[in-house]
Amino acid sequence: MEYTINYSFISIVFIIMTLIYGYFYVPIIKDLIKHPKETTKNIARNTWLWWFFSGFVFTVYFIIEVKDILTISSSIIHTIGCLIVVVLVLHYSKKNNVYLLKQNKDSSYCPVEYDELARLRKQSKLREESDLSGLEYGLSLMDKKEDLIGLDIGCSEGFVTNERFSKIGGFSHIIGVDQSTDAIKKANSSNYINHSFYNIDIETTDGIQLLKDKLTEIGEDGFDLIFSSAVFHHLNNPTKVFRELRKIMNKNGVVVIRTLDDQLTVAYPDDDNIVEKIFKLSEKIPGMSNRKHGRQIYNQLWKTGFKNQKFFLGMLDTAGKDIDERMNVYQNNFQWRPNYIKRAIKKYPDKKVTLEKDLKLMETALENLEEMFESEDFFLMEPVIVAVGQKV
Ligand SMILES: C[S@@+](CC[C@H](N)C(=O)[O-])C[C@H]1O[C@@H](n2cnc3c(N)ncnc32)[C@H](O)[C@@H]1O
Repeated sequence: MEYTINYSFISIVFIIMTLIYGYFYVPIIKDLIKHPKETTKNIARNTWLWWFFSGFVFTVYFIIEVKDILTISSSIIHTIGCLIVVVLVLHYSKKNNVYLLKQNKDSSYCPVEYDELARLRKQSKLREESDLSGLEYGLSLMDKKEDLIGLDIGCSEGFVTNERFSKIGGFSHIIGVDQSTDAIKKANSSNYINHSFYNIDIETTDGIQLLKDKLTEIGEDGFDLIFSSAVFHHLNNPTKVFRELRKIMNKNGVVVIRTLDDQLTVAYPDDDNIVEKIFKLSEKIPGMSNRKHGRQIYNQLWKTGFKNQKFFLGMLDTAGKDIDERMNVYQNNFQWRPNYIKRAIKKYPDKKVTLEKDLKLMETALENLEEMFESEDFFLMEPVIVAVGQKV
């Protein structure tokens, strides 16, 4: 068998392809080594597996048929690059208990960036009535009224946890968990009575075990009420989380989950469909939360064995509101959306060009919408859903 150097079309194509892929996998390999947990979560593992596999097949073909040194060596470099990414992803995902995800499903949300904590505090006021309706209904389903054990999933800095649980009363201990280390540090520095906060990612394989350990530490077997606000649409697999949570709940315990669905929003007048455009753009953003979770939650609770389901709608609208209150509605529902694109630009350098275009479109649409909000004849209504289910 004789191998030659041959500047054929196929060898040029393969060399260019290897350089292009190299532009992607060199920074990815660096990121995997520097920030293994975050990078592993966000990587398109299956795509890299596919690139590795196709590179391998091409290499074999080139060795047997083409016999051109340049083509073979660029194909080998490409295959080895992909293999390194795949091996590192498998290694770190196992080590960090990270579920292997499809690209973009994982929410890039971070509660301590872009003034988000201040927005959440405002949101807490706006959503108080519906949360309390759900919590009170949940409590009414239970015989036990005292010494209850509560859990808040995705508690952030613990502000909403304390607001809601202290209003309903009857709890001897409340545990709050959040995946954000910074948020949990803040929660722990607040010294809320009967609360303890832990840095737990509920979707990791040891998340539930850690919660069990916390229950054992306080001498309890299970939770009576699990509350979670504005979190489940960020999860990759809410059904799985419900299934696991049910296992660490006391009999007759309840879940009270506040979630959302963009498509429940109505806006008028909106001749240019600005609101719909913003929603469509939002859905495209890598790392954006599931903006259609509201319609899915009944099914997720039902599948995982929760009964006595009831849904409470919390209305947030512009009717009869002054300009500041209208702006609160705008800020709560819309103003934060470009932040997801900015995060995505940092996270996915290979999608920078498209994302920057989307950012411009989003900013223009939001400018128009903000102007619409300033006008008193503009009406927007966005309900949130508070879902309640019981382990019977
Ligand atoms: C929109 S914030 C809501 C915070 C708070 N519940 C409230 O109503 O203000 C979502 C929170 O969920 C947390 N979160 C998202 N995914 C999580 C997970 N898998 N495990 C634990 N916390 C999570 C985020 O870190 C963030 O603090």
